Amino acid sequence: MPSYLVTGSNGQLGKCFRAVKREFPKHELIFATKKEVDINRPKTLSFFFKKRPFIKGIINCAAYTKVDKAEKKSEKANQINVVGLKNLISFAEDKRLFIINFSTDYIFDGTSKFPHSEDHIPNPLNIYGKTKYIGEQLLKKAACLNTTFRVSWLFSPYGSNFVKTVLPTINTNNILSVVNDQHGRLTYGIDLARVVLSNIDQNHLFDYDCYNYALMGETTWFDLAKKIKSIKNSNCEIIPCSSKQYFTCAIRPKNSILDTRRIENHLSLKILDWKSALEDCLNRIEGEKAI
Ligand SMILES: NC(=O)c1ccc[n+]([C@@H]2O[C@H](COP(=O)([O-])OP(=O)(O)OC[C@H]3O[C@@H](n4cnc5c(N)ncnc54)[C@H](OP(=O)(O)O)[C@@H]3O)[C@@H](O)[C@H]2O)c1
Repeated sequence: MPSYLVTGSNGQLGKCFRAVKREFPKHELIFATKKEVDINRPKTLSFFFKKRPFIKGIINCAAYTKVDKAEKKSEKANQINVVGLKNLISFAEDKRLFIINFSTDYIFDGTSKFPHSEDHIPNPLNIYGKTKYIGEQLLKKAACLNTTFRVSWLFSPYGSNFVKTVLPTINTNNILSVVNDQHGRLTYGIDLARVVLSNIDQNHLFDYDCYNYALMGETTWFDLAKKIKSIKNSNCEIIPCSSKQYFTCAIRPKNSILDTRRIENHLSLKILDWKSALEDCLNRIEGEKAI
């Protein structure tokens, strides 16, 4: 049975891989938290592999993802998203492992009126986006088999994300202002993990060094909040506001819609729509509360 290492396994996406693991009994997933494998301490990688030389590839969920904090902690963001990834690449090249990595829609400046294909020229507006773009370029040049899933607006029952932030707020607040001038496509971590694992043993997965991946249907944070409110029957009033009115340290692109035709065609995927994925996520959160 082929074995794959999932780094950063206590993060949002890492936990999504853990959640779907049982659906893929033909793959062995080996999860490593930052304590076990720190991509900034290459010795931890060597030590981990010495005990598990049968590992064939790495699904890298380790990253610095605090978009606003990164503006002041640019060194930390660079250390993980660039230097850490470089360490992982050197190791994978040496051991002949493949790497599947994840990137972000925040590599774009959002000025395009159209969805962004994989070949659209990046121009990140914030430090986080810059470090992720440098990471993408490093991986493209790597001498090991690799591909990047570029995803946007990630949410899931785990970690911190917009859905989990809004949920308690609509129960306690009468009014909630939500940004209505950023347009994008959501990505559901559970669904992303399933797509990766359904295709990980297909050689043609690595035909491209980058795939955009996101759920069907464009939306705004405001529309997403309204949908959560409606599913949850909340009385909270959701009010639209502009990005200017809702100050954040990092600038976000106004349009970061990803064009997913490459992955749909190449891997013959039929991608879920965001509303069904949201319902699944809310049910899972409810289910976990009940346990
Ligand atoms: N979240 C989003 O909205 C979003 C959107 C687009 C793309 N993405 C991309 O999707 C991927 C997964 O994101 P996520 O939301 O799962 O991020 P996350 O929840 O922040 O998880 C990242 C994980 O990496 C770990 N980590 C940090 N430094 C590490 C190191 N040196 N060695 C090993 N592990 C380390 C973190 O551990 P600690 O917490 O202990 O530091 C955390 O467990 C990332 O590549 C991200 O850029 C995310």
